[in-house]
Amino acid sequence: MAVLRIHTFPDPLLTRTSERIAEIDGRVAGYVADMVETMYAANGVGLAAPQVGLLERAIVVDTDSENRGLAPLCLLNPEVVEAEGDITWEEGCLSVVDYTAEVQRSARVLVSGWSVDQEEVRIEATGLKAVCLQHEIDHLDGKLFLDHLSPLKRGLYRKRLKKIKRSGELPDDGVPRI
Ligand code: NI
Repeated sequence: MAVLRIHTFPDPLLTRTSERIAEIDGRVAGYVADMVETMYAANGVGLAAPQVGLLERAIVVDTDSENRGLAPLCLLNPEVVEAEGDITWEEGCLSVVDYTAEVQRSARVLVSGWSVDQEEVRIEATGLKAVCLQHEIDHLDGKLFLDHLSPLKRGLYRKRLKKIKRSGELPDDGVPRI
């Protein structure tokens, strides 16, 4: 297993659409294991394959703060099949340096996908887990949480990013990165 480099905004790779995984084999299981390791090493609660430079539809999620590391959820070709209600959540992202913002998403989702053991999986989620699943699936479609914000807010973030890059400082605000 290996910790992979995480691509960050404004890397154009993050705007591309990932391919469906046609065959779940050892190669896929291998990079999914690396993604899990990378997510924990970066202290994130979710990670999508394009964030580590792989344009394939794979995500890993672990929102269980009490049993962290025990059962990471790894989903291949995930799709939201049901969504209802609204929830607003303060989101951060491992690919968006030093910025969080409130994003509105569905409050409950049913997500289908496949495990690395080639089994079909259905996950029902609410709260942070629902937010995280929608956020990661967005990554597979080349979308960041920034794309849910107004152009004004996005512009402010670009300015702030320039400032951060100049100063070289990364403040820690305690919001989980997904
Ligand atoms: Ni993210």
